[in-house]
Amino acid sequence: MSDIVRVFEVGPRDGLQNESVPVGTQTRVDLIERLTSAGIRRLEAGSFVSPKAVPQMAGTAEVLRALRPSPGVTLSVLVPNIRGMESAVNAGIREVAVFASASETFSQRNIGCRIEESFARFEPVMAIARDNGIAVRGYVSCVLGCPYEGEIALGSVVGTSQRLAAMGCYEISLGDTIGIGTAGSTRRIFGAVCDELGHDLVAGHFHDTRGQALANVLACLDMGIRSFDSSVAGLGGCPYAPGASGNLASEDLVYMLDGLGMETGISLDLLADAGDFISGALGRPTGSRVGKALHGVRRAARAA
Ligand code: HMG
Ligand code: MG
Repeated sequence: MSDIVRVFEVGPRDGLQNESVPVGTQTRVDLIERLTSAGIRRLEAGSFVSPKAVPQMAGTAEVLRALRPSPGVTLSVLVPNIRGMESAVNAGIREVAVFASASETFSQRNIGCRIEESFARFEPVMAIARDNGIAVRGYVSCVLGCPYEGEIALGSVVGTSQRLAAMGCYEISLGDTIGIGTAGSTRRIFGAVCDELGHDLVAGHFHDTRGQALANVLACLDMGIRSFDSSVAGLGGCPYAPGASGNLASEDLVYMLDGLGMETGISLDLLADAGDFISGALGRPTGSRVGKALHGVRRAARAA
């Protein structure tokens, strides 16, 4: 099985969308450039959603305009509908993500429609993507539990994933939106999706609310999954998932993968610098355990 793991950085989107005070354009740009300098090759730069729903992501077009070209880096944005897709095309984006939910109530709260309607909205998005040669990634939220409905039927997770794959999504990111899963439920639910789609099409997106994200990644690695979403400094949450805390911290993920001898192409040191940068800009300590440890080690080295 391959030792190469694809890390998909979502901090500039999933992280910053949850900040109570929106972060300015230049800070968003500086963060993304620090992340790509650290070796991040796949990154979600923002979203084209309603600025009334998620004001933190207004200005995504300005962020994309201000970024220096970065060869070999794929920038992606979230799009919920045709309007978001048109903004993505205008911004010259080569990859987008559509986001569905395995929970009806979460779908309603997050994007204002039922699961069925969300797929109707994705159809023209996929058509524009095909016409413009834009890759589409698909998310399924609430795969290990929903903040409103609790446990979600396995059939809904598998069915939603299959529909996204059948529409043409090149990868399906299964989201533990509220960080409620364990290695046990990860094995069961992710295993069932892998049985249908194959592990190459599946990615893990774990919020770390209960400190289980790394264990869940390990369970996924055992199943052959090699693509994981994470967020620098453990930023994040979802405005429509009360109580959900940050994503698995990218520094923690890369530290564990380094320890397993797996290849990510990412410099942990430079990643931790990016984490220090955004934590400083937000005026609070990093949410990454590894980031915290590295910060302490460096401070001690400077003082010596
Ligand atoms: P709606 O109210 O059903 O749709 O919202 P609407 O068509 O009636 O539009 C409402 C307003 O939004 C209108 O403006 C539209 O013009 C505008 P108004 O007339 O009121 O001034 N609008 C837009 N503006 C900019 N860009 C657009 C766009 N579309 C409509 N693309 C909608 C539907 C989906 C737009 C809304 O509910 C929305 O934007 N929701 C935000 C959802 C979101 O970003 N959630 C967080 C990301 S998902 C997540 O974090 C989970 C994930 O990380 C995985 C996991 O952890 O599980 C991915
Ligand atoms: Mg998320």
